[in-house]
Amino acid sequence: MDARSFSLLLLTSIQCLPCISGLDFLSPGSSLSVEHSSDVLYSPDGTFTCGFYQVSPNSSVFSIWFSNSSEKTVVWSANPLHPVYTWGSKLMLNSDGSMVLSDHSGQIVWTNNVRSSAAHQARLLDSGNLVVKGKGGSILWESFASPTDTLLPRQSINATMKLVSANRALVPGHYSFHFDDQYLVSLFDDEKDLSFIYWPNPSRTIWEKLRTPFNSSTSGALDTLGHFLASDNATFTAADWGPGILRRLTLDSDGNLRLYSLDKVQRTWSVTWMAFPQLCKVRGLCGRNGICVYTPVPACVCAPGYQVVDPSDRSKGCSPKFNITCDAQKVRFVELPNTDFLGYDLGAHRFVSLRTCKNICLSDCNCVGFAYWRGYGDCYPKSTLLGGVTLINLGSTGTMYIKIPKGIQVSMSSIPHSQPLGPKYRANCSAANRYFIAHFTDERKTGQNESKYVYLYGFSSAIFLAELIFVVLGWFILRREGRQLRGVWPAEVGYEMITNHFRRYTYTELVTSTRRFQDELGRGTSGIVYKGVLKDKREVAVKKLADVNQGEEEFQHELNVIGRIYHMHLVRVWGFCSDDPHRILVSEFVENGSLDKMLFGGGSSHVLLEWKQRFSIALGVAKGLAYLHHECSEWVIHCDMKPENILLDENLEPKIADFGLAKLLNRGGSNMSVSRIRGTRGYLAPEWVSSLPITAKVDVYSFGVVLLELLKGARVSDLDKNEDEEVEMVLKRMVRMLMEMLELDVSEQSFLADFVDTRLNGHFNNLQARTMMKLAISCLQEDRSRRPTMENVVQMLASVDE
Ligand SMILES: *[C@@H]1O[C@H](CO)[C@@H](O)[C@H](O)[C@H]1NC(C)=O
Ligand SMILES: *[C@@H]1O[C@H](CO)[C@@H](O)[C@H](O)[C@H]1NC(C)=O
Ligand SMILES: *[C@@H]1O[C@H](CO)[C@@H](O)[C@H](O)[C@H]1NC(C)=O
Ligand SMILES: *[C@@H]1O[C@H](CO)[C@@H](O)[C@H](O)[C@H]1NC(C)=O
Ligand SMILES: *[C@@H]1O[C@H](CO)[C@@H](O)[C@H](O)[C@H]1NC(C)=O
Ligand SMILES: *[C@@H]1O[C@H](CO)[C@@H](O)[C@H](O)[C@H]1NC(C)=O
Ligand SMILES: *[C@@H]1O[C@H](CO)[C@@H](O)[C@H](O)[C@H]1NC(C)=O
Repeated sequence: MDARSFSLLLLTSIQCLPCISGLDFLSPGSSLSVEHSSDVLYSPDGTFTCGFYQVSPNSSVFSIWFSNSSEKTVVWSANPLHPVYTWGSKLMLNSDGSMVLSDHSGQIVWTNNVRSSAAHQARLLDSGNLVVKGKGGSILWESFASPTDTLLPRQSINATMKLVSANRALVPGHYSFHFDDQYLVSLFDDEKDLSFIYWPNPSRTIWEKLRTPFNSSTSGALDTLGHFLASDNATFTAADWGPGILRRLTLDSDGNLRLYSLDKVQRTWSVTWMAFPQLCKVRGLCGRNGICVYTPVPACVCAPGYQVVDPSDRSKGCSPKFNITCDAQKVRFVELPNTDFLGYDLGAHRFVSLRTCKNICLSDCNCVGFAYWRGYGDCYPKSTLLGGVTLINLGSTGTMYIKIPKGIQVSMSSIPHSQPLGPKYRANCSAANRYFIAHFTDERKTGQNESKYVYLYGFSSAIFLAELIFVVLGWFILRREGRQLRGVWPAEVGYEMITNHFRRYTYTELVTSTRRFQDELGRGTSGIVYKGVLKDKREVAVKKLADVNQGEEEFQHELNVIGRIYHMHLVRVWGFCSDDPHRILVSEFVENGSLDKMLFGGGSSHVLLEWKQRFSIALGVAKGLAYLHHECSEWVIHCDMKPENILLDENLEPKIADFGLAKLLNRGGSNMSVSRIRGTRGYLAPEWVSSLPITAKVDVYSFGVVLLELLKGARVSDLDKNEDEEVEMVLKRMVRMLMEMLELDVSEQSFLADFVDTRLNGHFNNLQARTMMKLAISCLQEDRSRRPTMENVVQMLASVDE
C-alpha cells in the first residue's frame, strides 16, 4: 500500500464517523422524519448529506447539502417553494419507487413521480446524486435530473433542465441558466414583464461569443477537475484546476454564475471562476429604474425621483414617486453623469444636438429618458430604465437624462455620483456569511425607514467584487492537513498538476531554480530577493525572509492569507518554502523592477516616466492598497509603502510587493505591541512614533509621500538639502507650503509647473496633477482621522482619469 492510498483509507475512516448516526440508504416502506436530526442519508464517503434543511424555525425543505462546509451549502432541494412544517412532516419511499414528501397534515407537497413495479432502495451517491434504484440496480429516479441552483461535477445539464437562482431561504429567484432556442447555454433574467439573456453578452455576434449554435446534442457538464464544456462550445476552467477538490457551479441570487472550491481546512468556499467579474454588468441586478454603482463595492441606488420597491431585495428595483404625464410642458430632465442604461432603445440618432435629443424624448410619451453622448451627438431615447450602471471612468458611458415631472425636487445626493464622499460603505465581517452591506446616504429627508437602504449581495467570496477593473482568474489556498504538509509534499500526493497555483516548495527545489541563489535582484529590510526559474519555465522572484520570528504554524497561516490575495496591482505570491530554518517567499517576477529605480534612477535608468504613466501608477497603487485594506476577512496593512515596494510590469503598470509581511516580520499591523518601528524613514506616519495603534491609515500616509515623489520625480527626503533637519520636519513644512500655494494661487498653473518634475518639460495634465497634489496633502495629515481612506483616493483619482 503506498502512502497515498493509506492516507485515503485514513480519510475515509474518519469521514465515516458521522455515518454511524445517519443512514446509508432508505428501503421501501421506510421514511425520514423531520424531527429526528439523525434521519439523514449520507453519501458513502461522507461528502454529502440528504435530509430536512431548516429554512426558518418552523419550516424545512428536503435537501442535499455538503456535509463539511462551515455553513450548510444546499446543492439540491425538492420543495423550495413549499417548505414543510418542522414537525410531523416526513419523506417516505414507497415500494413502487415513488418518494413522497408530506406535511404534518398528511398533505403531499412533493413527489418524484415514479411508478414502477419494484424499488430496491434510495441512496445518496458520492457525487451528490440522490437516486432511487430498482431491482437489478436500474435507476428509476435521480436528483441530478432536476437541478435547483447548483450543478455538481459529473452532473450534466441538457435542454430540458435549468438552474434557477435561489436566495438563502432557497426561494427561487428570477435568474436562470439553461439552453436558449439557438441551443446556446445562457443566463436569463425573467422578471414580471421582461425577459432577456444577459450572458453571453447579447450585444456580441455569435462569432465573438465563440459559441457553436444549433448543436442539437445540447448538453454540458462540469468535470471533477474543474473544467466545464457544453455542446455549444461554452467552456471555462477553474483557477485551481486539478483533482481532489470539491466543487460546485452555482447560479447565485445576484445573477452571477460562480464556480466554487471548498477549502478543506477552513471549510469555506472560494470562487475559482465567475461569469461576471464586474457584478454591475449583470443586467437587472438592481432591477427596473435601479442603478448599480461601485462604492467601490457594487451596490444599488434608485434613479432620482424613484423609490425602492423592497428594501430587503434591491433587485426588485425602484418605482416612480410620481405619475408621469405626457404633457411636455410639465416635465423636465435630471442629468445623471457617467450613467448608462442598457438596451430598450426607442431609436438611435446620430450627430444630433442635446436639445434635439431632448425634444425627441419629450415628443414621445413612451420615452422615460435618454442617453446622450456628448462629442458624438449620439442619442438613445429609452422606453424602460433597466441595467443602469454608473461608471467612474469618464468616457465609457454617455450621460443619462431622466424624465420627471417639473414639481419633483431632486436632491444632489440622490444622483449616483462617483464622488469621494459619495455613498459610504463598510464591510460587515462579523456575520459568519461575510456579506457586504452598503449603506446609502441619499434621501435622508424622507423619514427613518427609507434613510438607510441595506443591500445585501454576494457570497462568502464577495471580497473579489470590491474592485472595478480587476479580472478574476481566481485565488485559493492549497493547504492540506498538517500531517500531510509536514512530510514530502506535494509531489508525492499527486498535486504536481496544480503547480501554477499557490503551493509549498522545498528548499532544494528553490536552490535549483535560483541556481544556488546567484542572481540577486535586490535587498530590503525584509530580505534578499533572487531571480529564479521554476521547472515549468516560469520566472519568479525568490525572497529569503530575514528575521522571521514566528513559528511554522503562524508562518503557514500568514502565508495562507497572502496566498489567497490576488489582484492585478498586487504582486502574485505563488508559494513559499518553510524548511527550517529557511523561510522563503516565491512570487511573480515583475519585468521592470521597482519604481524608485525608474523614477529617481538618475544615470542608470534611461527611461523617463511620462505623465500618463505616473498617473496610472498612482491610480494602480491606490487600487492595490484599497483592495488590501478592504478585503473582508483579514485586514492587510502594508506598513512599508515606498517606491522600492512598487514594481512595474512590462507595460509599466504597478504591482505592490511585500504586502502581508507586516505580521510575519512583527512590523505591527493589527498587533498593537510594536516593539520596534519597521517601515522606512521618510514614509512613516507620525503614529509610528506616538503610542497610537497602527491602522490602515499609515499606508495612506506613505502613499501621500509616494504621490509627491511621482509629481516631483525626486525623493522627498532629498528635496531639502539642510543636513540637520529631520525628514519628518521637511515633509511637514512642504505640506504646509503646498497647502498655502494651492489656496493662494488662483491660476495654479505657474506654481504647479514649478513643482512638477522639470524633466517632463511641462508635459503634464494640469487637472490630474492638481488632484494628486491635493490628495497628497490630505494623505499627509498629521491627524489620521482626517486622511482619506484608500477607496476615497481611488475614486478621487479615477474621477480625473482619462
Ligand atoms: C469533514 O471535516 C472533518 C473535520 O472537520 C474531517 O475530519 C473530515 O475528514 C471531513 N470529511 C470530508 C468528507 O472532507
Ligand atoms: C412558528 O413558530 C413560532 C413558535 O414556535 C410560533 O409562534 C409561530 O406562530 C409559528 N409560525 C407559523 C407560521 O406557524
Ligand atoms: C435530459 O436529461 C433527462 C435526465 O437525464 C432526460 O430524462 C431527458 O430526456 C433529457 N432531455 C433531453 C432533451 O435530452
Ligand atoms: C471554442 O472555444 C474555444 C475557446 O473558448 C475557441 O478557441 C474556439 O475557437 C471555439 N470554437 C468555435 C467553433 O467557436
Ligand atoms: C456537438 O456537441 C458534441 C458534444 O456534446 C460534440 O461532440 C460535437 O462535435 C458537436 N457538434 C458540432 C457540429 O460542433
Ligand atoms: C398616480 O395616479 C393614481 C391614479 O391615477 C393615483 O391613485 C396615485 O395616487 C398617483 N400617484 C402619485 C404619486 O401621484
Ligand atoms: C453585521 O451583521 C450582523 C449579522 O448579520 C449584524 O448583527 C450586525 O449588526 C452587523 N454589524 C454591523 C456593524 O452592521
